[in-house]
Amino acid sequence: ASDQRLVIVSNRVARPKKKGAAAGGLAVGVLAALQEHGGVWFGWNGKLTDGEATDPEVITEENIDYATIALNEVDYEQYYNGYSNRVLWPVCHYMLDFIQYDAADFEGYRRVNAVFARKLMSILRPDDIIWVHDYHLIPLASELRAAGVTNPIGFFLHVPFPSYEAFRAVPGHEYLLRAMCAYDVLGFHTAGDLAAFETCVREPIIGADFLDDHVIRVPGGQLIADVFPIGIDVAQITDLAAAATGTEEVKKMFRSLEGRDLIIGVDRLDYSKALKQRLLSYERLLERYPDTRSHVTMMQIAPPTRTGVRTYDEIRSQLERTSGRINGRFAESDWVPIRYLNKGISRDQLMGFFRHAKVGLVTPVRDGMNLVAKEYVAAQDPADPGMLVLSSLAGAARELKSAVIVNPYDRDDVADGIATALAMPLEERKQRHADMIDVLRRNDITRWRTRFVEALLRKREFSKPA
Ligand code: UDP
Ligand code: G6P
Repeated sequence: ASDQRLVIVSNRVARPKKKGAAAGGLAVGVLAALQEHGGVWFGWNGKLTDGEATDPEVITEENIDYATIALNEVDYEQYYNGYSNRVLWPVCHYMLDFIQYDAADFEGYRRVNAVFARKLMSILRPDDIIWVHDYHLIPLASELRAAGVTNPIGFFLHVPFPSYEAFRAVPGHEYLLRAMCAYDVLGFHTAGDLAAFETCVREPIIGADFLDDHVIRVPGGQLIADVFPIGIDVAQITDLAAAATGTEEVKKMFRSLEGRDLIIGVDRLDYSKALKQRLLSYERLLERYPDTRSHVTMMQIAPPTRTGVRTYDEIRSQLERTSGRINGRFAESDWVPIRYLNKGISRDQLMGFFRHAKVGLVTPVRDGMNLVAKEYVAAQDPADPGMLVLSSLAGAARELKSAVIVNPYDRDDVADGIATALAMPLEERKQRHADMIDVLRRNDITRWRTRFVEALLRKREFSKPA
């Protein structure tokens, strides 16, 4: 069974040799999984046309075939900026006030999913296993099935899944739930997301029956819905981090700290990452713990993302104002409290920065998993590890219980958490780090992929006619 070709489908495809925008957790995770197993990665090539979507262009690098298409400009605006990022992203992060619905966007979303299905079919083989990723492509399986595709098709959601009470606010949610039921396997990051999905399909729209072993009976068949928390390649990150500390860029950054403790944050400039609240919590630290002044430096790396959506531009100017104000308030002639970088940096360099940071600060108000949290832990020197301060509302907090867990809405709690991490004795840091590494090793990127593919194969076994 394992010799079957794995075909991964996602909107964002990140070829390592192609430089571009910071990829995000989906692309990082999918790439790591594909590098191990080999296979096809199908998706958008980052280009827009004013005509029809193009046919797949296949580029092979090592054991991965990248099959990508250009999309029509108007379609893409409606499907990606529109329904995906103005409706689905905010609802999945329980931020209903950010929803901006437009019926034309919803149509564009469905149209592009049909385009994805058609283009994907042109490269499919009968034995392929299809694994679809994220909220952009929820209707893909139903489109493929309608066109006669019988291959196993799974779906993994990289963002949280909202409970019915939030999800029902979305125009089109009935359609989305029915479309989800066309998959053989549905995967979520946490037990909470799975439970939330179950509140949706329990409603009469679907009227699901819950059987044993994560099997759900829905109109038209059965599916498996389970929890598959995404992991990282721990050894790879540890090696990258250790190697990067020797590079000139990382040494230069380290020297510039002049012995101060580094607090690091790395996030796409997304409102779900709550960067303004994070800066305000750091300001609270400087207020309440005057000893930290001149003794810590916070570096926030925040690459721009989804610049076609207005709310994203708004948070950018908010952040610039806030970091400017805090720097103005506390800076000394030889010290600036916040280094704010509005750009992405390479993974290698990032891992080197992580290794030098005394505190990794990860405080989203909602996050599917958050790979930065896991990478920060894996990048530490076990002999003198830095400490992760982690939002209780990130999926990663369900696993990394030995981090300093904080509530991102509570500035005092975050400030105290940072102070605790900064002052934590070596022995305690070592112990907590060892606990977290253990969790990361047990649930790594290999396990994420193999468990998901196994679920797809299991589903096919019990669906076979007797
Ligand atoms: N990342 C990077 N360079 C940057 C910023 C982020 O390589 O400048 C990577 C980071 O190492 C991580 C991913 O992008 O692997 C972000 O994933 P995460 O799950 O934390 O958040 P997402 O962006 O998916 O919401
Ligand atoms: C999150 C989403 C991904 C997305 C990434 C980057 O991780 O779950 O689907 O690819 O953010 O966002 P972008 O819109 O640039 O693809």
